[in-house]
Amino acid sequence: MSLLLGLSGGDGVAAAARLLHLPVLMAVQRQLTDSFRQAMRRVASTVNVISICVDGRPLGITATAVSTISMDPPSLLVCINRAASVHAQMEDASHFGVNVLHRDQEEIAQMFADRGQHALRFASGWENDCVNPPRLIGAQAAVRCRRIDSHAFGTHSIFIGLVEDVVVRDDVHPLLYLNGRYLSVGE
Ligand SMILES: Cc1cc2nc3c(=O)[nH]c(=O)nc-3n(C[C@H](O)[C@H](O)[C@H](O)COP(=O)(O)O)c2cc1C
Repeated sequence: MSLLLGLSGGDGVAAAARLLHLPVLMAVQRQLTDSFRQAMRRVASTVNVISICVDGRPLGITATAVSTISMDPPSLLVCINRAASVHAQMEDASHFGVNVLHRDQEEIAQMFADRGQHALRFASGWENDCVNPPRLIGAQAAVRCRRIDSHAFGTHSIFIGLVEDVVVRDDVHPLLYLNGRYLSVGE
């Protein structure tokens, strides 16, 4: 209230109205965020591990925020939280890998989403020469991209990659994430 009393004139009234409405606006924003989260829980996504190797050190993160951009040129984008340990190095990496997980690879998804398992992440199951981004053996698909652009947006950065190499596994059983759970579909 002392803040409100310190304000005077038309500006003061507008500022006071804004202050009084702030809790309402914050509650509306929270509700919108919750509804959006519920909506996104109803969207099935493939699960990927984004991999890079910078200064001889392999790094990766589980990510569902991956999307094709176009076939001409073959290109895709990935969205990485700025708080993720891989984020800063993504800015330095010339290339990144998108390893689309197979339904057999739920453990890999959990490992690359768990801060406590950093040391184990590349211990086995990866081809890694550190010239190319690490490639997960047995992945549903492994796509090597040249990182050509990035854009900051809110809590995340969007990294755009030009596809340079693709390896696919013949049986089609990708790991999916829906409503907070892993599942699979397949032919
Ligand atoms: C199914 C699933 C999907 C995820 N998708 C993303 C994503 O698209 N982008 C992102 O930045 N983090 C995503 N995360 C969160 C990161 O995997 C998680 O924060 C990870 O621990 C960050 O790596 P760090 O521990 O090395 O910082 C996802 C987690 C899970 C379980």
